[in-house]
Amino acid sequence: MPPAVRRFSLALVLGLLVSLPRPIAQGLALPNKPDSVKFAVIGDTGTGDKFQYAVAEQLKLAHDRFPYTFVIMMGDNLYGSERPQDFVKKFELPYKPLLDAKVEFYATLGNHDDPNQRYYKPFNMGGKRYYSFKKGNVRFFVLDTNYLDPEQTAWLEGELKASGSDWKIPYFHQPLYSSGMHGSQVDLRNVLEPLFVKYNVNVVFAGHEHFYERIKPQKGIYYFTQGGGAKLRDGDIADRGLTALGFDTDRSFTIVEIDGKEMYFQTIDRLGKTVDKGTIARQDTNGAPAATAPAAAAPAGPGRSGRGGGNTGPGDQQGVLPGTVR
Ligand SMILES: [Fe+2]
Repeated sequence: MPPAVRRFSLALVLGLLVSLPRPIAQGLALPNKPDSVKFAVIGDTGTGDKFQYAVAEQLKLAHDRFPYTFVIMMGDNLYGSERPQDFVKKFELPYKPLLDAKVEFYATLGNHDDPNQRYYKPFNMGGKRYYSFKKGNVRFFVLDTNYLDPEQTAWLEGELKASGSDWKIPYFHQPLYSSGMHGSQVDLRNVLEPLFVKYNVNVVFAGHEHFYERIKPQKGIYYFTQGGGAKLRDGDIADRGLTALGFDTDRSFTIVEIDGKEMYFQTIDRLGKTVDKGTIARQDTNGAPAATAPAAAAPAGPGRSGRGGGNTGPGDQQGVLPGTVR
């Protein structure tokens, strides 16, 4: 081989090596821009068992390639006893790599949680059963739906009204829409949904059901259930016509990136497989014209249709079709 050709071949090989993605970077479906708001969503985590630790390991791997700065917790943060050593076993040890990396956690109270968790510093609740916090152009409203009294509702309305944030994201334990054994919490929905619509909420997260479910938009709002952080109710998602995409055969968590008017999400299972991904464009839900193009979200293939009906196939990035990945 002439030297010039050999040099060209070597340069080509080196160039390929440099441009090939590192294995850890493969499969990330989020843009991962430098100044975006990046966070993870986990729910129903506090078992201290091997499944919680396995999901925590995937959370760490996700953080390696997508450096989210905080995690929102959907409740049931500690099952069973809540002695100091339980906080170690069911929270501090599984998430130690993230805590060491200064990732912050913001908890909400589930039905299994002692309200005194609000004083546990790493949960960042500031001693409150319900609270709000802001990250970039996003304000989060963390509710205690175990006891949604009029005082809390009035507080929420005041906070929503006062917020000038582009994105307003409430989260709490019991889902307003669900296809699982607990079902939709209609009493809560009757109180909360009118406020969400009035004050332009686009996205809501909840837990409680031990699976992942993305609900078809309801009154323009995207509802996510992420309660698969440790426990699992295998095959629990029933066809109630609500499911855009469900995943109920393994544990999972969700990573989210908000960049301007776009919210990108990706749900990853206990073994590192992507089970859902998509983009939601911020829009006005309170009767004003939509600010941006309609949201598009696509389930990640391969999956097969569940009781919900047709699923999109692998590589199909268009639209929202009902389906349950099993
Ligand atoms: Fe629960």
